Amino acid sequence: MYVAKENRYEQMQYLRCGKSGIMMPRVALGLWHNFGSVDQYDNMKKILFEAFDHGITHFDLANNYGPVYGSAEENFGRIMESDLRRYRDELLISTKAGYDMWPGPYGNFGSRKYLMSSLDQSLSRMKLDYVDIFYHHRPDPDTPLEETMGALSDIVRQGKALYVGISNYQDEDARKAARLLRANGTPLLIHQPRYNMFDRWIEDGLQEVLEEEGVGSIVFSPLAQGVLTDKYLNGIPEGSRATRNHFLKGENITPELLEKVKKLNKIADGRGQTLAQMALAWVLRNNKVTTVLIGASRAEQILDNVKIVNHLQFDEGELQMIEEILQNK
Ligand SMILES: NC(=O)c1ccc[n+]([C@@H]2O[C@H](COP(=O)([O-])OP(=O)(O)OC[C@H]3O[C@@H](n4cnc5c(N)ncnc54)[C@H](OP(=O)(O)O)[C@@H]3O)[C@@H](O)[C@H]2O)c1
Repeated sequence: MYVAKENRYEQMQYLRCGKSGIMMPRVALGLWHNFGSVDQYDNMKKILFEAFDHGITHFDLANNYGPVYGSAEENFGRIMESDLRRYRDELLISTKAGYDMWPGPYGNFGSRKYLMSSLDQSLSRMKLDYVDIFYHHRPDPDTPLEETMGALSDIVRQGKALYVGISNYQDEDARKAARLLRANGTPLLIHQPRYNMFDRWIEDGLQEVLEEEGVGSIVFSPLAQGVLTDKYLNGIPEGSRATRNHFLKGENITPELLEKVKKLNKIADGRGQTLAQMALAWVLRNNKVTTVLIGASRAEQILDNVKIVNHLQFDEGELQMIEEILQNK
């Protein structure tokens, strides 16, 4: 039986999520990859325990994480039962619905019908009475936002989620969602967009909206799925994500991209960090982002990544050099 390390809260820093009562760990762990029915169960346990032992109190899931769909939640539920149940009140667990999950018109997008039934299924797979955060996973162009946000608010009132979030919403839709939820008496806790050195769209408006509305942010793929590490510098290693699934293809890792990665790696070296650490610290550099949401295929990656909390600062010169590489000047 797993027993968490006593000093776990000394290893992490926490930041308030928007204008809420929730303190988020600066590093959180997502179960998108490496927790499906195709993956090694013992490895999942190692990753989760390493994370919690280092003060990562937040685990992020979604109905369709796997493959197969639902299997990451099922595996997490097994580990919840066997080892993590007694730490439930120390954990923030999230799940989502919004992408395709089951056949027919009620297993996708943003209807009240889909969100309500999907969360019931997720709770049963994860062996939980409630999640801490329930997200609408992506905007739905056809369902009225009032219906989707109304469903999120009712889910909080039912006690099935403590807080709600949205993911992949553009700035003005995020503002509308925040206002609707506030009017319903169930404020928007958090937004989950993609953000990393190579994908900076949230700097063009979304961050400002979140600041104005008092909403926190947890950003996914902060390592660009592993490209912002040193692992692809000498080719594509067997077993890496670029060899394992269709979200990151080997052909996406172009010579031009690798050229930038090499230069960034040198700067990281000069800071006494791995590139992964520098890429994560850069995302958190000005406290506009509450939390980086990492993935990991091995427990050692967690160890590497959590060390950033001891070195989040950049001097102006470093930021300038990074900017020049990213802008390709
Ligand atoms: N809301 C959404 O629409 C959405 C979309 C995508 C993801 N997410 C969430 O965000 C989470 C993280 O996304 P992500 O997995 O793409 O994040 P990421 O942190 O950018 O990539 C994680 C991958 O990078 C590699 N890695 C991590 N640490 C490393 C290190 N120290 N050294 C070398 N390689 C390292 C591993 O790849 P290898 O397998 O190659 O070792 C790992 O699986 C997901 O689990 C999910 O919870 C949400």
